[in-house]
Parts: sequence; C-alpha cells; structure tokens
Amino acid sequence: MILVTGGAGFIGANFILDWLDCSDEPVVNLDKLTYAGNLGNLASLKRDSRHIFVRGDIGDRDLVLSLLNEHRPRAIVNFAAESHVDRSIHGPADFIATNIVGTFALLDAVRAYWTALAGDERTHFRFVHISTDEVYGSLEPGAPSFAETNSYAPNSPYSASKASADHLVRAYHHTYGLPTLTTNCSNNYGPRQFPEKLIPLMLHNGLAGKPLPIYGDGGNVRDWLYVGDHCAAIRTVLERGAPGETYNVGGNAEITNLNLVRTLCRVLGELKPGCDAESRITFVRDRAGHDRRYAIDASKIRRELGWEPRETFESGIARTVRWYLDNAAWLAAVTSGEYQKWISLNYAAEVV
Ligand code: NAD
Ligand code: TYD
Repeated sequence: MILVTGGAGFIGANFILDWLDCSDEPVVNLDKLTYAGNLGNLASLKRDSRHIFVRGDIGDRDLVLSLLNEHRPRAIVNFAAESHVDRSIHGPADFIATNIVGTFALLDAVRAYWTALAGDERTHFRFVHISTDEVYGSLEPGAPSFAETNSYAPNSPYSASKASADHLVRAYHHTYGLPTLTTNCSNNYGPRQFPEKLIPLMLHNGLAGKPLPIYGDGGNVRDWLYVGDHCAAIRTVLERGAPGETYNVGGNAEITNLNLVRTLCRVLGELKPGCDAESRITFVRDRAGHDRRYAIDASKIRRELGWEPRETFESGIARTVRWYLDNAAWLAAVTSGEYQKWISLNYAAEVV
C-alpha cells in the first residue's frame, strides 16, 4: 500500500480517486482537514476498504511513525501543504508550520521507518514530494521556461515555504540516502478545486451573478495543467523516476489571466445559455509581490519517463466547467461558512 498526505484536498483527492481507478493497491490518507480538506471529495470511497482515512498532522512525528509501522507502505506521496498564495500574504505562520516544519517531521519519521527496512522493501521504497513551479520565481516575457536546473528564487511566503521544503527533501536524499523524488508542477485546475483559486472562484462568481475580480492588469501569465494529467505524471514518477531527481510538470498552456477568464466565460455561456459572466469582469487591486509569469519546460519528464499531458487547455476547461455545473451541491457546500470570511478579508466588500 501507499501513504498519501493531504489526500482530502484538491490534487490529493483527485490522485486517490485516479489511483484506485487504476489499481487495487490500498491508500492510507493522512490529512489534517484544514479549511481546504474536504472528505466530500472522497464520498464515492465511503464504503471502499481500499481507502483508509486518518485525520492528523504531518508535523506529528509520533503519529506518522506509528502509521508507517502499522501499515508498512511501499511509498509516500506528500501533497499536504498550505497552498494559497493570498493566504500566505495575510498570514504566513501556518505556511511555515506545515510546509517547512511539518515536512521536516514527516521526512524524519519516514527516514526512521525506511532505515529499519531491509532488502527489496528498502531498495524499492519511494518518497514523492509534490512541489510547485513557484519556487523558481518570476519570468520576464520571452525568457526560457523553468528547467530543473534553474536556481530557486521564491517571492511569496508560500513559495518560500515550498522552496524550504524542497531543500529539506533534497538534503534527506543527499545526506541519508532516502529515495526521494520531487515534482515541481505548474498551476493545476479541474474538479474539486477549492474556490479561492482563480478558476473555481471565477466559475463560482460567474454562476452566482457576482463580479469576476482580476488582480492588476490581468496580464500575469500562468501555465495551466489539468489535474488528471498531473495525477498521471505523479504515478509515472513514482513507478519510473530516479531517486534524488526532480521533474518539472507543466501543461504547455501559457495564458494571461485575462484571456483565461474570457475563455472561461465563453465556455460557461456555451454550456449554460444566458450566463453572461464576461460583462462582470472587474479589475481589482493587485496582489502584493505578484509574480508576472510562470512557464514550465517539461522536456525532462517527457524524454526520460515518457509522460506528457493529454488534455489541451480548451478540452480541460470544458471538462472542468461541466464538472462544476454538474456538482452545484459540492460548490454550495464549500462556499458557506468560513469561505465567506476569507472572501471579505481578501477582496473589497463592494467588489465581490
Ligand atoms: P489544497 O490546499 O487543496 O489541499 C491541501 C490538503 O492538505 C488539504 O486537504 C489539507 O487539509 C491538507 N493539510 C494541510 N495541512 C496539513 C497538515 N499539517 N497535515 C496534514 N494535512 C494537511 O492543495 P492542493 O491544491 O491540492 O495542492 C496539493 C499540493 O500540490 C501542495 O503541496 C501544493 O503546494 C502543490 N501544488 C499545487 C498546485 C495547484 O495549482 N493547486 C500547483 C503546484 C503544486
Ligand atoms: P491562483 O489560482 O491563486 O494561483 P497562483 O497564485 O498560485 O498562481 O492565481 C492564479 C492567477 O490568477 C494569479 O496570477 C493571481 C490571479 N488571480 C486573480 O487575478 N484574481 C483572483 O481572484 C485570484 C484568486 C487570482
């Protein structure tokens, strides 16, 4: 079996659902259930004995070690993190606690477990750490995409905390020989993404008749990756990646925020006639320290492991919009309560 951390969040839940679609190998899912963790994402596995959910913190070394000794996984996939840049600007402390100190505790527990393994169990063990392209900083227009050899230059408390975690993972490989692999991927989108992030926020506001808030001039560029393609990349890295290596994962889909939101509005209008979200696009105060451009050079994972994305941006967006339209109850459930407090903290009340 494998141990997944953060498996009740957006990418982790998609990963577990995909994993159990592709194989019968059980998954232990350790998740703290922060505001971003949602067991509703895994409702279809409620009576599935292949999924074992444990509520807990990756920073709790004793808990992690006891889970490892009880379930004896052959691999760890670490998704658990505080993941939203804007929240890291309002309150960095949780990012330091989970992404840095928590990753350290997890690594240390895994090292103790792995050190005691022998033979094939020890040789084939893997620790896959999920990171982000944001560790590389911001690109000028026309500059080459991020390669694995780029220096780290994180600009937000979020990306600095992820960069720190990546360094710890690297050090645990270099110093102790722990068989770690790191993936640095671009912006994901798809089903089950919490609507604080750009695409689900715009879909939610588009459907609710609210303004669509674009930071600054809308010219910031991201490289968008459909979450199902990301899950396939992680499975590939787990099975065929070389310990100690890092792999950049991207969608070959660079687009400005403004063009992305316009595309989203068009698709929404096609699938839900009468929904005129584009007329509600509103430019709002820019994010502090807003990185201008991210772009991934994913040639290493294509060349060495044979992975490439299957979805184009158009096909992935159409699937995503359809999912949110078909899952109105999911969206309603996650946009009540605490969510409203976040919206009034981050956006001027008259805008959203
Ligand atoms: P998310 O915020 O949707 O989910 C994070 C999950 O981790 C939640 O279920 C939360 O409850 C859990 N968690 C938080 N702190 C924890 C702790 N201390 N112990 C155990 N569980 C904890 O995030 P996501 O978008 O699914 O991202 C998953 C990973 O992928 C993160 O490491 C993130 O940095 C990385 N990543 C995300 C993107 C993206 O576009 N979403 C892009 C690149 C990399
Ligand atoms: P986001 O989804 O928060 O991902 P990240 O900051 O990790 O790239 O934001 C994607 C882009 O969209 C980023 O350039 C910020 C911008 N953005 C807006 O313009 N308006 C919004 O309300 C949000 C949440 C993001």
